[in-house]
Amino acid sequence: MKTLILFSTRDGQTREIASSIASELKELGVESDVINLHRSGEIQWHNYERVVIGASIRYGHFHASVDKFVKQHQAALGHIPSAFFSVNLVARKPEKRSPQTNSYTRKFLLSSPWKPDLCAVFAGALRYPRYGWLDRLMIRLIMKMTGGETDTSKEVVYTDWQQVTRFAHEIAHLTAK
Ligand SMILES: Cc1cc2nc3c(=O)[nH]c(=O)nc-3n(C[C@H](O)[C@H](O)[C@H](O)COP(=O)(O)O)c2cc1C
Repeated sequence: MKTLILFSTRDGQTREIASSIASELKELGVESDVINLHRSGEIQWHNYERVVIGASIRYGHFHASVDKFVKQHQAALGHIPSAFFSVNLVARKPEKRSPQTNSYTRKFLLSSPWKPDLCAVFAGALRYPRYGWLDRLMIRLIMKMTGGETDTSKEVVYTDWQQVTRFAHEIAHLTAK
């Protein structure tokens, strides 16, 4: 039995975090499949002993496919141990990096029919050179308003990889309901 790790990403940071969790689990002797939620197809739930879903925020929202996936697989998600993680830039501030203090995550958990056993919030990455001009302008404006990096030549990864490692250890200890 494996762990299923599904990710919803736009620019790749959530996929990197999902892969890092998988590597950490492997070191702990736990095999996993890392799959893009947007292209997950039919899931063979009986092959998995736990599931992890990770999703990033863009302009205040997770991708609509995340809600859709959760609704579609609500029954399966309710029957196996599960974990959720969200990725966003508000979480670069440590005080906004918990499920209770990160508004995107808190709202998701409140409105979702799925109640994951574990939840984490990770700071994402700011990669100005990779954005189109409008996104670059908008993100720079948001950064200016919130006291963040405004140099558009920069790429900054705020993810705390030790926090990711700790989360992977917690996932490894999730046992059957
Ligand atoms: C166009 C755009 C909009 C974003 N909107 C938000 C936002 O509303 N709130 C936030 O905290 N982070 C926001 N971010 C930051 C992303 O959540 C962050 O870059 C994250 O690492 C993206 O993860 P991904 O690469 O897996 O998609 C935005 C980033 C981009 C490029």
